[in-house]
Amino acid sequence: VSALQIETPAAVVDLDRLERNLFRWQEHCDRVGLVNRPHIKTHRSVAIARRQLELGAGGITCQKLGEAEVMADGGCTDILVSFNILGESKLARLRALLDRVDLTVCADDAVLLPGLSSAAVGAARPLRVLVDCDTGLGRTGVRTPEAAAELAATIDAADGLVCAGLFTYPAPPGVVEFLSEAARLVRARGLAVEVVSAGGTPAMWSSGKLRPLVTEYRVGTYAFHDRATVAAEAATLDDVALTVHATVVSRPAPDRAILDSGSKALTSDPGPDDGLFGAILEAPGARIVKLNEEHAYVELGAEQLEVGQRVRVVPNHACVVANLFDDLVVVGEGREPERRPVDARGRSA
Ligand SMILES: Cc1ncc(COP(=O)(O)O)c(C=O)c1O
Repeated sequence: VSALQIETPAAVVDLDRLERNLFRWQEHCDRVGLVNRPHIKTHRSVAIARRQLELGAGGITCQKLGEAEVMADGGCTDILVSFNILGESKLARLRALLDRVDLTVCADDAVLLPGLSSAAVGAARPLRVLVDCDTGLGRTGVRTPEAAAELAATIDAADGLVCAGLFTYPAPPGVVEFLSEAARLVRARGLAVEVVSAGGTPAMWSSGKLRPLVTEYRVGTYAFHDRATVAAEAATLDDVALTVHATVVSRPAPDRAILDSGSKALTSDPGPDDGLFGAILEAPGARIVKLNEEHAYVELGAEQLEVGQRVRVVPNHACVVANLFDDLVVVGEGREPERRPVDARGRSA
């Protein structure tokens, strides 16, 4: 089968570009002295995680326990779960993982610690905990360096837990000020700050400026890139490794084409601030203005597309797209297209 025979919609990954994206970033981390801890939420694929580790990653990041379980089954031995973990059954799963792999979690509240501690006591190894700091995103995280130091001390005093350092996402202006003050206050309590972890593809190429304070960096989207990371100038369209292949299934009006890739293929994630749902490489002037579940509405402008024509769409947000497909179709110079499972697809719990 050629890539052109694969039924649409399909999530197609250019392996040569993927490899180049992984390699360049690892090289950057090696040069600036950062531990690369890629976030596998983007691809949810064991084979890609293994390749990231082979190239030199110091471990992986997962957002959810379900992803971490799949990656542990796939041979990953050092996993950061960048989430607050709570609830009896999740804590039991956390404990089972902790008996198998080196495990770090995040926490932003002392209320989480009794649960984490009870899960960790008696395990094969201590549970490492990073203090999640809100340095500007306004999502999770303690909001002051003082609160970070207080939580670090409470973690360190809890049975079964080790405070491994500080964590933030992404790395907005002001991050160094916040984290360096937090690190100073943690050290003033006689505790070590072994890890300072930041992340995010949009600012990845400026991550050298965070050294020496920041010790590790987590990137996810960098593997595939998408319209958002291209708009952020972390990549160009030539770096985009994942596209959704779609077919023009209708030309109901002179200025309109309909593709077979709706929100169940492209996701309705907003992209860079233009209200569009993807970019069609074969018709750069055409605009995907609306999605239903299985239909994309394309305003053609001066572009022409014919019924039956296949197109490649650069999605707004690659990480959500990969989770919509059972498998990724991998293509590359001199190789037959092949289906590879999205191993942790749907493992969001
Ligand atoms: C905690 C955390 N770390 C790292 C990342 C990676 O971000 P990106 O995909 O921009 O590299 C994310 C993305 O959502 C995140 O939530």
